[in-house]
Amino acid sequence: MPAVVIVGAQWGDEGKGKATDLLGSRVDYVVKFNGGNNAGHTVVIGSEKYALHLLPSGILTPGCVPVIGNGVVVDIGVLFEEIDGLEARGVDTSALQVSASAHVIPEYNKVLDKVTERFLGSRKIGTTGRGIGPTYADKMNRQGIRVQDIFDEKILTQKVEGALELKNQILTKVYNRRAVTVDEVVDELRAYADRLAPYVTDTTLLLDRAVAEGKTVLLEAGQATMLDVDHGTYPFVTSSSATSGGAATGSGIAPTRIERVIGIVKAYTTRVGEGPFPTELHDDSGDFLREQGGEFGTTTGRPRRCGWYDSVVARYAARVNGVTDFVLTKLDVLTGLETIPVCVAYDVDGVRHDEMPVNQTDFHHAVPVYEELPGWSEDISGARSFEELPANAQAYVRRVEELSGARMSVIGVGPGRDQAIVCHDLL
Ligand code: GDP
Ligand code: IMO
Ligand code: MG
Repeated sequence: MPAVVIVGAQWGDEGKGKATDLLGSRVDYVVKFNGGNNAGHTVVIGSEKYALHLLPSGILTPGCVPVIGNGVVVDIGVLFEEIDGLEARGVDTSALQVSASAHVIPEYNKVLDKVTERFLGSRKIGTTGRGIGPTYADKMNRQGIRVQDIFDEKILTQKVEGALELKNQILTKVYNRRAVTVDEVVDELRAYADRLAPYVTDTTLLLDRAVAEGKTVLLEAGQATMLDVDHGTYPFVTSSSATSGGAATGSGIAPTRIERVIGIVKAYTTRVGEGPFPTELHDDSGDFLREQGGEFGTTTGRPRRCGWYDSVVARYAARVNGVTDFVLTKLDVLTGLETIPVCVAYDVDGVRHDEMPVNQTDFHHAVPVYEELPGWSEDISGARSFEELPANAQAYVRRVEELSGARMSVIGVGPGRDQAIVCHDLL
């Protein structure tokens, strides 16, 4: 099987890391194609728990080549911290490949991310403060610094000089911060050059050859459909293309090579940061999901906003990503609820919407139309086949499958690597 994409179908934290890890042993390459260390993927292997931010989840699978694609923004300090952290735990990271064309996150963009949020006040996005937005803005504005620039001091100095002309004006005159010198930026980045060099390569060529040889390449998204800069709840989004289209531009693998798109969807919904969220709960049920599901951010530790399953969002994700298979995660978290509401449509000022409203304002006003499904109380964390699930859990899966526009091929019943029910093979 050539290229397969994994995307988040909601607002992130659906369990993409676990899904990638699940496929890891059958995959030759795992490519992160968008975002940076704003992502947080928790992978549980036996009694070991790993939190990955910048490295692709495939790093944990021996024999699998982890790749940071051209579409990623790289905080090089964080990259080495993460590598050192894993190496200290016995994980071999030497196979890592980093695109020469990926952009780097300079310190000044981390500062700008944080001060911009403060400046926005009640209009803030609730970013992770990792410099993601300003770095992608620089990329589009053709003022970015790329990994390859680090190895050429003259070019690097020229680019930093160009970028700082404007950045320093903004830092000092708008935000009242100190100006940054060209030397401090260049020195910081150059200090990584020798250590970084062995990892850097033309990843598009590497991946093209891999696909041509019939190797399996898994393209792993950070963030999710509703946080995608084009298809998400703009402006409450991240600044990259987190949908399957972004997998092609962010890796250099042509769209015609992508055979399967796996959407990861939680059995309920969560969101971190600001922005509209129709099925959000502000009552005990929300607390129940947060506590049962351990819904606290892997990256910032913020409590995640929680709500019921939204099939309008899932159908939308199926459509814009071309989802062929869903992985329904965290079904076990719903255990113990008497009834489980599922959002089937929205009511916007008396008008029913079965599809995502085109206007963001309507989405802000969307009131969920719920269908109530009966719950179950049996522990399902040990179930390994669909038939082992209680009848009501089976009915829940079947109903959300019917509503969501693609089959539920895998069902997650716990955080562990083996805690999954495979209904249809993903590869
Ligand atoms: P990602 O950003 O999409 O990779 O997801 P996160 O790692 O941020 O959040 C998902 C969380 O759910 C992690 O703590 C996982 O260990 C956990 N998880 C994944 N699948 C399941 C599941 O089926 N059941 C339970 N209870 N936890 C799961
Ligand atoms: P994973 O890969 C959940 C959210 C932030 C904020 C918005 C913009 O773990 O699913 P940014 O720092 O990217 O400019 O912030 O996007 N956000 C995420 N929410 N999971 C993530 O990643 C996220 N990455 C960014 O909370 O609302
Ligand atoms: Mg996460």
